[in-house]
Amino acid sequence: MMAAQQKPPILRVEGLGVRYGALTALAEMSWSVRDGEILGIIGPNGAGKSSCFAALTNSVSHAGDVYLAGEAVSSLATNELAKRGVRRTFQQNSFFGELTVLENMLSVLVGNHSASLATSVFMPWRQMAIRERGIAIAEAVLERFGIPLTYYDRLPGEIPYGAQRLLSIALAYGEGPRVLLLDEPAAGIGGTDMQHLLDVLLDLKRTGTPLVVIEHHMDLIMTIADRIVVIETGRLLAEGTPAEIQANPAVLDAYLGHAE
Ligand SMILES: Nc1ncnc2c1ncn2[C@@H]1O[C@H](COP(=O)(O)OP(=O)(O)O)[C@@H](O)[C@H]1O
Ligand SMILES: [Mg+2]
Repeated sequence: MMAAQQKPPILRVEGLGVRYGALTALAEMSWSVRDGEILGIIGPNGAGKSSCFAALTNSVSHAGDVYLAGEAVSSLATNELAKRGVRRTFQQNSFFGELTVLENMLSVLVGNHSASLATSVFMPWRQMAIRERGIAIAEAVLERFGIPLTYYDRLPGEIPYGAQRLLSIALAYGEGPRVLLLDEPAAGIGGTDMQHLLDVLLDLKRTGTPLVVIEHHMDLIMTIADRIVVIETGRLLAEGTPAEIQANPAVLDAYLGHAE
């Protein structure tokens, strides 16, 4: 049996770089996240944090390499990476606005549970059974993320903002990713929603989903992260435990000293 230290990290990025025209948004970015870990990514607005997720999921052209459990996956398309369990949320909520909360959830599970055309034409009863099973799974995921039953038949735009943020995470989670990338999950929420989000993130960690979390809320990230990467103007400024980061003079100077 391999010791935990010898196992390759579940996700590793090596030398990631992103350019938008003349602007270098990200350069020489390297980090990794291991099973059972929460990696935090912090840095000022415009530092290149979201570009980092865009690069590693191949939604922008970029330099550098990405490894999933030791396997090079740099050239895989975004949806192929998602199929292999690299799933992300976005800074802005993105839902199917005309579908209900439950239908949004069903739509991300549908790839695994929809019957083939032949099955649905020749065995409608089977199609029905599969649909019911899909609904049961969708409801279980929504419940796990603490989205109240009364919201299931509402449109995402009609439910409170805090619940929308949790829905974004539930949709990215689907039936369980290998690694979940969250871009500012706490953006725009506060109070009891913040506590709820914290509980959800810690529950994900406890049940074995490694997380990479971009976050501006220092209390939240310092509480949940095992390690933190600090990005400034596209470059790695520091990496360490929350305690190390909070005591790092370069970080204090560049960021934490005048964080909002
Ligand atoms: N699609 C884009 N086209 C041009 N410039 C962009 C684009 N996306 C981001 N940028 C720029 O790249 C830099 C990094 O942006 P981003 O990765 O969104 O930073 P962060 O998430 O840390 O706030 C910023 O200067 C931003 O204005
Ligand atoms: Mg961003």
